[in-house]
Amino acid sequence: MKMKILILIVFSFAILGSCTKDTIKPTVIPVNTTVKFSTDVYPIFSAQSCTGCHGTAGGLTLSGTPSAVRTNLLLDAVIPSASSTSKLYTFFANGASHKGISLPAASVSNIKSWIDLGALDN
Ligand code: HEC
Repeated sequence: MKMKILILIVFSFAILGSCTKDTIKPTVIPVNTTVKFSTDVYPIFSAQSCTGCHGTAGGLTLSGTPSAVRTNLLLDAVIPSASSTSKLYTFFANGASHKGISLPAASVSNIKSWIDLGALDN
């Protein structure tokens, strides 16, 4: 009898243990946390002809390695974690255009997420 109770207790713990493990697994990963500068923001600048004006000759330079371009942006155009006061976002927010260029909503969303996630060099 004692053995049966012992087996029952051991089984109960095994079942409860497996349940706890299941609930720890993240089920929903917000899409914006996967935004990376090098793959989701940086390519926008050449694809949208920003680099034609923002080349290497003074002002904001948007050509160069992703790390260098990020450094340039942080001088004035991007305030980490504050998209609402970052020109790189406000110039294009809600369909606005800068020098005749308006960006696709997905690009604007990537820019906003990247800034609000800390404008990381990633
Ligand atoms: C026709 C030329 C031209 C094009 C194309 C252009 N820009 Fe600009 N941009 C400028 C000029 C000139 C300024 C500075 C004066 C101003 O803000 O109007 C500027 C300013 C900026 C600033 C603010 C810089 C700062 O430090 O204050 C940002 C950010 C910016 N541009 C981003 C972009 C992005 C992103 C693109 C591409 C989608 C782009 N620009 C395309 C000419 C251009």
